Amino acid sequence: MSMLSSTSSSVSFLLFCILVLLVEGSLGGDPYAYFEWEVSYVSASPLGVKQEVIAINGQYPGPIVSVTTNWNVVVNIKNNLDEPFLVTWNGLQQRKNSWQDGVLGTNCPIPSGWNWTYEFQVKDQIGSFFYFPSINFQRAAGGYGGIIINNRDVIPLPFGTPDGDITIFISDWYSKDYKNLRKILDDGNDLGIPDGVLINGFGPYRYNDSVVQDGISFERINVDPGKTYRIRVHNVGISTSLNFRIQNHNLLLVETEGSYTVQQNYTNMDIHVGQSFSFLVTMDQNASNDYYIVASARFVDASTRDKLTGVGILHYSNSISPASGPLPDGPNEGDTYFSMNQARSIRWNVSASAARPNPQGSFRYGQITVTDVYALLNRPPELINGQLRTTLNGISYIAPQTPLKLAQLFNVPGVYKLDFPNHMMNRPAKVDTSIINGTYKGFMEIIFQNNGSTIQSYHLDGYAFFVVGMDFGTWTENSRGTYNKWDGVARSTVQVFPGAWTAILVYLDNVGIWNLRAENLNTWYLGQEVYISVVNPEISNKTELPLPDNAIFCGALSSLQKKTISGEKKNDIEVGSISVKRFIKMRLSSSLFISPSLNS
Ligand SMILES: *[C@@H]1O[C@H](CO)[C@@H](O)[C@H](O)[C@H]1NC(C)=O
Ligand SMILES: *[C@@H]1O[C@H](CO)[C@@H](O)[C@H](O)[C@H]1NC(C)=O
Ligand SMILES: *[C@@H]1O[C@H](CO)[C@@H](O)[C@H](O)[C@H]1NC(C)=O
Ligand SMILES: *[C@@H]1O[C@H](CO)[C@@H](O)[C@H](O)[C@H]1NC(C)=O
Ligand SMILES: *[C@@H]1O[C@H](CO)[C@@H](O)[C@H](O)[C@H]1NC(C)=O
Ligand SMILES: *[C@@H]1O[C@H](CO)[C@@H](O)[C@H](O)[C@H]1NC(C)=O
Ligand SMILES: *[C@@H]1O[C@H](CO)[C@@H](O)[C@H](O)[C@H]1NC(C)=O
Ligand SMILES: *[C@@H]1O[C@H](CO)[C@@H](O)[C@H](O)[C@H]1NC(C)=O
Repeated sequence: MSMLSSTSSSVSFLLFCILVLLVEGSLGGDPYAYFEWEVSYVSASPLGVKQEVIAINGQYPGPIVSVTTNWNVVVNIKNNLDEPFLVTWNGLQQRKNSWQDGVLGTNCPIPSGWNWTYEFQVKDQIGSFFYFPSINFQRAAGGYGGIIINNRDVIPLPFGTPDGDITIFISDWYSKDYKNLRKILDDGNDLGIPDGVLINGFGPYRYNDSVVQDGISFERINVDPGKTYRIRVHNVGISTSLNFRIQNHNLLLVETEGSYTVQQNYTNMDIHVGQSFSFLVTMDQNASNDYYIVASARFVDASTRDKLTGVGILHYSNSISPASGPLPDGPNEGDTYFSMNQARSIRWNVSASAARPNPQGSFRYGQITVTDVYALLNRPPELINGQLRTTLNGISYIAPQTPLKLAQLFNVPGVYKLDFPNHMMNRPAKVDTSIINGTYKGFMEIIFQNNGSTIQSYHLDGYAFFVVGMDFGTWTENSRGTYNKWDGVARSTVQVFPGAWTAILVYLDNVGIWNLRAENLNTWYLGQEVYISVVNPEISNKTELPLPDNAIFCGALSSLQKKTISGEKKNDIEVGSISVKRFIKMRLSSSLFISPSLNS
């Protein structure tokens, strides 16, 4: 506004009037946060081998999106990669707005050289999430960053205000470029054991000269003695569950993926691929030295333990000596019982308020009648017509050229089938585009049965679900007797141990087509995903937002594609508000039509 009032031409007055209309009409009083992102390759050598990573505005990991409940977020992304790009917002519910979800079932990818603007509201959410590239195995090269949704001032945190906020990304890592990794999988081979574990994109601190080579840059987190920090930890890796711990420091678990938890101290926490946790950590140790921050691989062969241990440094501001002693011990490598018990110990704090003033537990999920049950069986990767693929209920998902959501809106026939089987099917595998027909406002129970030999984690877009049960063996109807119907935590990513099952409950009140995927990148890439279509049978414009006017079209709908705006010159009127740019965009939207081919 101040920039506008500094100019005084009639043009800017006109813009001002329209801006006010936009504010009144579409902002609904909730603030906007704007981001301009340029996605490109940069070279980095996290494990001493130079390779190409994906950076946002030159940063790897990318910038943190820190906003408050109900804010509107506008992210203009310029794709400077040499291939299409799409980002998804892991854990953001995108209420009524699957158009912004950034997966192939809802969006055409942003072609190389183009820009596209996401615009969504972080409605009724709080907590710790992250974004990442959703296509072409790009997450293996980075492109991720944190999302923080702060409480509104009117809703108190269920703990004292921390003295600082720290984001930590932990991930397994290969020293090969992601395009090579992709090729290995395309050729039907296994990626093998990762080359290391990174902390915030850095390799391990040299805690032992015979384990870590010289010249590796490591992450150092600076803290002040006596202070308490909120540390948000995300496993953004490919396939490895990691145990996170800080030498001599307790981790007080307070939140996971948008739910406040019962606050409990842990000395270490297993964090599976795609999961996010926040801990309060008090700097209550001897401040004259530093401490190790460790993320070590779980469920791997002991011979790979040294290689698959990420180490960073917690540096007290007055510290005079380096971290010393052996690394703090984690749980025994193969101990899945420890890991499952730890997962079961994570509870919802039913009396804490989250995004709304009423306590989280006032949604009594345990008293709602289940209307649909889906049992999904995972098997180890297998060959289908000579191609290595992964399946759920024997079906390996193949993404159609036309996104499901666009095909649904424009009634393009034959793109997908709403016939995904609701019971475990141990049948010969096939490749298909079969999705789940969800019932709007239905209450769905989903059972994941992992008949593979490795741990998997599954993520559902559009929702938080309640984790009600988890056990070894095969799920049966009797398993329901063990469900936690009171304080199972609501989250969006849950692990399923090999030879075990996990059950979740989800209230399908968010209209859209939502991705249910393996977060393990190999498993996902090879076809282990499905979508849930949730349609309001009443014709209403209140339960779903319209197709955004900048939608990219591809596949059967390519001919609807408007000219890309990225090639156009910015408007001459230099103003500091993107709301004005939106107005300009509206004026420009009558521009030429072209038919790009996105089939690359
Ligand atoms: C591309 O970026 C420009 C500003 O740099 C913006 O005006 C335009 O709306 C963007 N295009 C899309 C499709 O988001
Ligand atoms: C360093 O690592 C080697 C190999 O794992 C091990 O044998 C040695 O005991 C370690 N040194 C220290 C000081 O822990
Ligand atoms: C957690 O551990 C800290 C010490 O690090 C202690 O002060 C605090 O009381 C513990 N909290 C709970 C809930 O156990
Ligand atoms: C902290 O450690 C240093 C040496 O590392 C020692 O000299 C000092 O006495 C310790 N302080 C406390 C309060 O234990
Ligand atoms: C649950 O949240 C409340 C805030 O409503 C907080 O006072 C309490 O300490 C929390 N309980 C636990 C066990 O974390
Ligand atoms: C999908 O489910 C709805 C009820 O939610 C039903 O009316 C419709 O016929 C189903 N569609 C298919 C193709 O099964
Ligand atoms: C996986 O399924 C096969 C065939 O149904 C069964 O024989 C086997 O015991 C299962 N394995 C596990 C670990 O559940
Ligand atoms: C939504 O529908 C109502 C009535 O069906 C109509 O009056 C209103 O203009 C519509 N709103 C929008 C934004 O299309």
